[in-house]
Amino acid sequence: MPKKFYVTTPIYYPSGNLHIGHAYTTTLADILKRYKDMQGFETFFLTGSDEHGQKIEQKANEAGLSPMEYLEEKVESFKTLWKALKIDYTKFIRTTDSYHEETVQKIFTMLLEKGFIYEGNYEGLYCVSCEEFLNADQIDENNMCKISNTKLELVKEETYFLKTSLFQDFMENEVLANEFLIPAYRRNEMLNSFVKPELKDLSVTRTSFSWGIPIKENPKHVAYVWLDALTNYITALGYLQNDDSNFKKFWEDENTEILQLAGKEIIRFHSIYWPIILKSLDLRQPTHLLGHGWILSKDTKMSKSLGNVIDPIEMINNYGADALRFYIGYELPTEKDGNFTDELFIESFNAHLANNIGNLISRTNQMITKYFDGFVDTTDVQYDKELTEKGIQTVSQYIKNMDEYKISDAIRNILDLGNACNKYIEEKTPWNLAKEENFSELKNVMATLQRNITIMTYLLKPILVENYEDMIEQIGLKDFELSFEKIINWNEIVFKKLGDKKIIFKRVN
Ligand code: MSP
Repeated sequence: MPKKFYVTTPIYYPSGNLHIGHAYTTTLADILKRYKDMQGFETFFLTGSDEHGQKIEQKANEAGLSPMEYLEEKVESFKTLWKALKIDYTKFIRTTDSYHEETVQKIFTMLLEKGFIYEGNYEGLYCVSCEEFLNADQIDENNMCKISNTKLELVKEETYFLKTSLFQDFMENEVLANEFLIPAYRRNEMLNSFVKPELKDLSVTRTSFSWGIPIKENPKHVAYVWLDALTNYITALGYLQNDDSNFKKFWEDENTEILQLAGKEIIRFHSIYWPIILKSLDLRQPTHLLGHGWILSKDTKMSKSLGNVIDPIEMINNYGADALRFYIGYELPTEKDGNFTDELFIESFNAHLANNIGNLISRTNQMITKYFDGFVDTTDVQYDKELTEKGIQTVSQYIKNMDEYKISDAIRNILDLGNACNKYIEEKTPWNLAKEENFSELKNVMATLQRNITIMTYLLKPILVENYEDMIEQIGLKDFELSFEKIINWNEIVFKKLGDKKIIFKRVN
């Protein structure tokens, strides 16, 4: 039985266009999914759109459209972006898909029958932009939402509540006491800000607007958008549906590694309410929730409401999908907030993709072509000991980091190897070896470079998906299937005559 990996992104609100912040989460998920594919896992990668709620209803009204008309075009634009960014998702869920709506109704009924949901009245301040009832800590001195910086609504209506208060102990001593939420410091944030002060029952239906999934028992109520949204992670797999084979495989099986990604402002929903919903349904918990920071633009969160967004499509058109994937993977580690500006982007592109990687591949290709007519016969080659060991070490460090979802650290391992190769060229001065006609040493140098560039290229495969084939061709392995096993043990690798030199990652000025 192959190992299994299920990875999810949050489902995005189609209340505006997606920006770099959204592309961030999805790209991280894509890199990890592709890495697990390379490791022989059977994978399922879910993304989608969160289409109900007051905010969407308002946006559609403003545009003079029905919600469905409004959504069609937005969802198309999501898919266009994911295609341009080479996102290899397995399934795209829309919360307006009928299978999802029907399953949410069934889930609501189950929770009601099990006694986890009861009727009552709610009064409190609601942020439409975050689709969230706020507590005092989340409101600033001007009575605005601290996260979205928008005005709040006073909501006073009958509602159904989920008995989250029953799960105080479960949250403190199970969910947030183990390795589920990473990085670890986020656990303390959740415990101290939301769980320990006391878990209040969560309002899970609304009556003051209608763009949502009506509940069967009392159709003037629609399901709260977060109940509707969180459950997408299991409805998409077929939970409570005729064909639930994916659910059995990717959720119920305790051996499946389930990774969910979410930005810091929605960790609360994913690390408290979602585990409680799952527990109430008697279902297993995800293996990990990876909470990440925000991408800042001029030190504030990039967001539609602040108007400081960078359009990922524009970046892709200017620099290519790989350049953006690389920046996201390397320069924006998940543990903290990161900055995105054109200057930083170009600086990073030139330093790492153009100078380190691109240049290394191209100069090595040039030398092998010039000195050996494009083919190095490795029969009696002696590989450089130090660089060969570094290559092998790089693979194991990379695997360890990727297994811990530390993409940025894993990329740093590759770049270090690239720097070592570039330094090796300067030290060995192959052009002098050629002048001296020391062809046996020249061959050792070229073979050592070819070997380590092969390793680097394979490790970059989940990130540089557009350029991978070109890179592999330039190093002499066109159409050759590499694997971790092959690059570690260095067997079965048969080079062909090098492909033509192409400039990949041309310096930007
Ligand atoms: N619809 C909800 C999620 C429901 S999941 C069951 C939602 N949607 S969202 O479109 O507002 O945001 C989705 C994700 O994008 C969040 O993880 C959020 O953190 C991420 N980002 C939005 N702006 C961001 C940045 N500027 N930086 C990094 N990620 C940010 O919330």
